[in-house]
Amino acid sequence: MTNKIIKSGKPLNGKAVIPGDKSISHRMLIFAFLAEGSSEIRGLSRGDDVKRTAAAIENLGANLEHLLSSQDSNGDNVLITGGLSRVKEPTYPLDMGNSGTGLRLMAGVLSRFDFLSILIGDDSIHRRPMGRIVEPLRQMGARVDGRVDGTLAPLVIRGGGLQGIDYAPQVPSAQVKSSILLAGMGAKGTTVVREHTATRRHTEEMCQLLELPVEVESVGQSLKVSLQACSVPPFNLDVPRDPSQAAFVAVAASIIEGSEVEIENVYLGPGRDGFLRVLLDMGANIEVHKRTDNTADLSVKSANLQGTVVTGQLLADSIDEVPVLAVAAAYATGETKFLDAGELRAKESDRLVAIEEGLLRLGVAAKIEGDNLFIEATGRVPGNLLTGEKIMCRSFHDHRIAMALSVATMAACNESASNQVTSELEIDDFDAVDTSWPGFIEAFATLQQN
Ligand code: S3P
Repeated sequence: MTNKIIKSGKPLNGKAVIPGDKSISHRMLIFAFLAEGSSEIRGLSRGDDVKRTAAAIENLGANLEHLLSSQDSNGDNVLITGGLSRVKEPTYPLDMGNSGTGLRLMAGVLSRFDFLSILIGDDSIHRRPMGRIVEPLRQMGARVDGRVDGTLAPLVIRGGGLQGIDYAPQVPSAQVKSSILLAGMGAKGTTVVREHTATRRHTEEMCQLLELPVEVESVGQSLKVSLQACSVPPFNLDVPRDPSQAAFVAVAASIIEGSEVEIENVYLGPGRDGFLRVLLDMGANIEVHKRTDNTADLSVKSANLQGTVVTGQLLADSIDEVPVLAVAAAYATGETKFLDAGELRAKESDRLVAIEEGLLRLGVAAKIEGDNLFIEATGRVPGNLLTGEKIMCRSFHDHRIAMALSVATMAACNESASNQVTSELEIDDFDAVDTSWPGFIEAFATLQQN
């Protein structure tokens, strides 16, 4: 558990190297595990979360070989040989570390097999709600148990003999939807998931790319996904760059005066472009150059931001970016509101609490009321960052909190000319960042040297 001292930075300039998307990386590994034959994945996230899913599928019988990856790529190229004929009962519990996505998706996959598997993780994982996947997987016929009547990990699964269900999750969650769909790929009959508020569609998109029998119907905010049992063909695919990580660079470049940054090949498909819509709404100077239907290059220049309101579908579409959007709000003029944001309490940490505490320590007026978060700011550097004193902040062992607070501190350089000394921020458990972006500090240092 290492602490890290972050100092005020410099404007960011040049091309940002953003890691491969974490959500897509998990899914490509899982689909390659199920595919009969060898699949090549290029640009896989190097974060610990994705490494845990890679280790899990290896423990279940897949073979993973690292291929040469190009120097500037921020992802691994791997060759996975999978297939149902290779699958074996794991000897030990599968340790998913900090990864809610890894654990919940693997629970769906493992529900297909009649052997015993146990899913464990770190302290945070053992506190996060699991009833949301256990209930539908039980309805499909899997025997799934866990602490507190199957609502908390470890999860113990003996699956097999699954039957499709028609299910409407109570919370908007792509992890829940994907867990059910991955189980449904090995279930009799049709599996249907109905979302009142649509979430990211990576599992459906993988099915569509591989021409599996899936139907996706989107009406207003809602989404219905229907899937039949199917086998997965091997594939050869690139992982686009992670919008959740691009958001750290986009916010930093927006709030640090004199910045001008290019971010290439970011995934911006359904459910993942919310941070961009929020920033544009705040007055950010971002040009979007589309590459494909779901990917784009972004050019970001610094701008004066204004407060905004984030709720409903927009909140669901920017759920992982709220910590860094809260930092944008801390440098904006006026009030920003994140409304009905209770799902943030079920992430790697209670992010409402973690954001409020971090921003208050920086001297930003942040307050939680119920499940709403309000941030009031003046468009200037938060006062405590200009006292010259060291500030201690807790990351809550949450990667996105650690990175968001880092960005907030780097931007103190805006007023360092008039105030000779800006404060340093000491963030605890900074190694949490490795969960999703092991090269975060280096990537920012490179942009500051340009
Ligand atoms: C993810 C879905 C989201 C998100 C998480 C990744 C995914 O969680 O917060 O980081 O890859 O499906 P929920 O589905 O629980 O909202």
